[in-house]
Amino acid sequence: MATPVHELDLPEVDLFGLEREEGLAAMRAARERHWLVRMPMGYAVTRYDDAVAVLRDRRWHSATALITQMAGISDEQFEGRQRRSILSMEGPEHARLRRLVAPAFTPKAADRLRPFMREVVGGLFDKVAAQGTCELVEDVCEPYPIPIICELLGAPKEDWKLFSQWATDIFRIFNDNLIEDLPIINAAFEELDAYVRALVDERRGHPRDDLLSDLIALEEEGDKLSPDELVMMSEAVLMAGTDTTRNQLACSVALLSGHPDQWAALAAGDLALAQSTVEETMRHLGAVRGTARFASEDIEYRDVLFPTGMLMAVSLVTANFDPEVFGTDESFDITHHFNSAQLTFGSGIHYCLGAALARAELQEALPLLARRMPDMHLDGEIEWKPSNIGIWGPAKLPLAFTPA
Ligand code: HEM
Repeated sequence: MATPVHELDLPEVDLFGLEREEGLAAMRAARERHWLVRMPMGYAVTRYDDAVAVLRDRRWHSATALITQMAGISDEQFEGRQRRSILSMEGPEHARLRRLVAPAFTPKAADRLRPFMREVVGGLFDKVAAQGTCELVEDVCEPYPIPIICELLGAPKEDWKLFSQWATDIFRIFNDNLIEDLPIINAAFEELDAYVRALVDERRGHPRDDLLSDLIALEEEGDKLSPDELVMMSEAVLMAGTDTTRNQLACSVALLSGHPDQWAALAAGDLALAQSTVEETMRHLGAVRGTARFASEDIEYRDVLFPTGMLMAVSLVTANFDPEVFGTDESFDITHHFNSAQLTFGSGIHYCLGAALARAELQEALPLLARRMPDMHLDGEIEWKPSNIGIWGPAKLPLAFTPA
């Protein structure tokens, strides 16, 4: 007979108001005591195996659709959009969509964009190369993913600025001020909808070598994406693929700035070293530190009963340091190889659809920056985003290097 979760004697953690390091320390201390942690909104798993088990268990549904509810807001337009997004869909509907779009998101599909990625990041660095200093977030990380996503979708270059503005407005979702920001967010969504719909219509008649044309052409046993689904997928890619990548790039460089010897090795290294560098920096300092699920039915897991509706946070950041999986030596080493994957891309059915693309973006940008700034070092303190931000990283990363 499973024990109701509220009857358990559990460590309790409230992350509200804590600095990142304090929050992390509290979660790690809790992980030592029990596999489950009690939190103000529900519970959290902190160990690797439990994180993977929860993310792979289809009874736990994505909490993305609950964003407005948790912020105490009711907005039909916004909620409807969240419900229709791949990020919050579940069951056969979600499985069908993932099956249909998977061929467009393979590593091979991402590889097509590698030369373009080098061009973009090289071009951004060119603008600061002669200065000998830069603020990497504003100069490189922020602008980097937008042209990639636009090129991926097939949007013309002159429209990049529009996408950048829509992305900025839409990312207000994560700013902890949803009530005030909602009109701006909805307006940006509407403009983006109209834009993508026009692009879809155009591509139907004139397919090209881009994601939108691939998505239009995808078909499995007569099943195809509807126009609404095409628009939703394009928006999901813009939303999920921009802020994540830019923050992860900044996190990875920030981490490497404390390891000049490894930065030099990366500059001289091959693709395999770039690959292991990306995995190791994502494990040590991931831009996505956790995600959340809710119980779609009464769930029994490890002899504990979680009632329907219960919220469960999954701490990717503590799972990435589970000593059972990654050992007790927590040193940062870009040549590390582990038998288990780092979890910053999640796991299970909602596993990051753009993981191959994101990996390629980071594998191209990091060695290029290491080659262009071989003696890179911090030129002031790193300013970090507030720790309650969902997609997190440096707000400012001032660097100095020998001018070229
Ligand atoms: C380093 C950069 C990235 C990180 C750290 C990241 C992380 C994640 C994580 C953790 C999830 C799962 C969320 C959950 O289970 O609740 C996810 C889902 C997703 N990601 Fe990424 N992501 C990145 C880049 C990208 C890119 C470049 C794209 C677009 C091409 C993308 C598209 C998506 C989509 C569409 C989903 C939803 C998949 C689904 O629900 O089935 N991501 N991402």
